[in-house]
Order: sequence, then C-alpha cells, then structure tokens
Amino acid sequence: MRVLVTGGAGYIGSVVTEELLQDGHEVVVYDDLSKGHRGAVARGAGLVEADLLDGVRLRRAFEEQRTEAVIHMAAASLVGESVENPSKYYRNNVLAGLSLLDAMNETGVRRLVFSSTAAAYGEPEKQPVEESDPTVPTNPYGQTKLAFEHALQWYEKAYGIRSASLRYFNAAGATPACGEVHEPETHLIPIVLQAAAGRRAHVEVYGDDYPTRDGSCVRDYIHVVDLARAHILALFVLEERSAVYNLGCGGEGYTVKEVIEVARAVTGRDITARTAPRRPGDPAVLVASSEKIRRELGWSPQFQDLRAIVESAWEWMQSHPQGYGD
Ligand code: UFG
Repeated sequence: MRVLVTGGAGYIGSVVTEELLQDGHEVVVYDDLSKGHRGAVARGAGLVEADLLDGVRLRRAFEEQRTEAVIHMAAASLVGESVENPSKYYRNNVLAGLSLLDAMNETGVRRLVFSSTAAAYGEPEKQPVEESDPTVPTNPYGQTKLAFEHALQWYEKAYGIRSASLRYFNAAGATPACGEVHEPETHLIPIVLQAAAGRRAHVEVYGDDYPTRDGSCVRDYIHVVDLARAHILALFVLEERSAVYNLGCGGEGYTVKEVIEVARAVTGRDITARTAPRRPGDPAVLVASSEKIRRELGWSPQFQDLRAIVESAWEWMQSHPQGYGD
C-alpha cells in the first residue's frame, strides 16, 4: 500500500515507517521537522519537509505518491505545555488535522489511522479503561485529540473517509535504529535511563501518596514496535469500517518505583530516586483494556515484560549517545 505518514520523523512515527517498509509498503513521511529528526526517517522512505497547514503542498504530496492511506501522527503532545499554551494545541492538533482531512478529501484519499491518546479519557472512573468509557479530557492535549476524533466521525458521514483512532497508553522502548529523543524530555523511562547513564543526578518520583501498591502512579507501558504493528493492522480494518481502539498491554501496569527498579536491574547502575510533589493532572492509575484490538484485529504484544522494553531503550541510548546528532 502507498502510505503517507505525518510525523514520520518523530519517535513513534519513525518506527511505524520502519515497520511499513519492512512489510513492503511504500512510504512518504510528511514532517516539518520542528520536533522530528531527519536522521530518524528510515532509509527507503521519501521525505516531504512541510507544514500540514499548507494544503497545496499536501495535495501535491498525495497526487505525486498516489497515496492510498494516511497515518496521522504529527501533533503537539505535552500535557503541561497544552495547559500553558492551548493555542498551539488547537492549531497543531485540530486546525492542521482538518487541513489534512480536507486535502485527503479533495484528492480522494479515504483511509486514515490516527494517533490518539489515553488522555482522551481524562481521569477514568474504573480500570482497565475500555473504549466505551466516558471521554472527559482534563487538558487541551486530550481535548484537541478528542476533538479531531469527533471531526473524523463527521468526515466519514459526509465524505466517506474511514478512520481508525488508536488511543495510546505509554509508548516506550526502541528498535536498533529508532529511539526516543525529546527536547525537553518529560517521559519517565528515558529520564530514568539518563540518570543511569550519569546524564542527570537523580530521578524525581512525582508523588508517593497515590492510592496504589507503593504510592507512585501506575502506567501501562507498551513497546513502540507493538504499537507500530497495531497501525498496520488498523490500515486493513479500514477496508471494511472505522474503529477506535485502546493500545496498551493491559494487566497490572507498573508503578514509577517499579520502573526505576527494573531500570536498575537492566543497567546494573545506581539510580537515585527522590520523592517530589505530584505532577498536576496525573491520574493515579492508567491501564488499558486491550481486549477489543486483540479480539477484532488479532493484535498481541510481543513485549509483555517491562524488562524487555527497558532493555531495548537502554541499548538504543548506548548506541546513540548523541541521539540523532542534530
Ligand atoms: N514521572 C515521574 N518522574 C518523571 C517523569 C514522569 O515520576 O521525571 C511519572 C509521571 O508522574 C507518571 C509516569 O511517571 O506517573 C509516566 O509519566 P510520563 O510522562 O512518561 O507519561 P504520562 O503517563 O504522563 O503520559 C502519557 C503520554 C501522554 C499522554 C498521557 C495520558 O506520554 O502523551 O500518557 O495521560 F497524554
């Protein structure tokens, strides 16, 4: 299939691109490189360096590639920043998304897989979270992702564009070529591994008085390759219908303190952890029910064990001490 991947130079987008190419698909990455890295674009993929708000450039990209499907991963994705600067989130996650949909509609591209988020649920009332649970986002990041999901429903009715929205829980891990580099880094696993590598003095545990087994927050970590495989399965479901799926491993999840303990075991290094105040807006527990995607698409994660996920991230960090070098 000929697939255009927006945000394909980012952390998850680069792995989705790798997996698509491995399966023999033809890929064009559309990325403005504001957060992504040129060096993260897999060899074999085309790169259009442009803004999603540039409808003319988008239409040209679709026509030149004769695009059959889009995987839309370009977004702004920091919860805290979204509260400080909602304008950026409405622009990048809603306005730019609508520009993409309009260009798809005008050029006859009718399939889209969308990177959505567990933040669409807000503070869930029960765990594990199911797709039919209430969506009550508590910040502009989750709200703008959900707004785009809603737009997708209407674009399907009016223009026949089918979509699969994948609500990610906590993406983690790396492949030998592609890993996580954010500036600033806010995600737990890379921060813990930076401490292991001596690149930061300690890790702050945001809150140890949550109602969980050790007082720190529980999250559902999913390996980025398992996440990427789900996108490829979702492309094919679009031949028949639209859908929304959670993407996490389910189970018990892991606390922040457990993640640090696993990282100590994987790296063999000391990692100093200090308790810090709670981070505003963090739900105590966020674990996916992934029953629906398992049942309907036959998806099943290869990396169920946090140790393997952390090992892959650590190997990448050691083989790429300067990230992508940009
Ligand atoms: N944490 C720490 N110390 C740190 C960094 C994180 O204790 O230095 C904790 C957080 O408080 C949280 C857990 O580690 O409990 C995981 O935090 P991350 O920032 O790695 O991930 P989040 O669960 O906050 O965020 C993820 C996605 C977001 C999405 C959110 C949904 O990365 O895009 O889930 O709530 F919005």
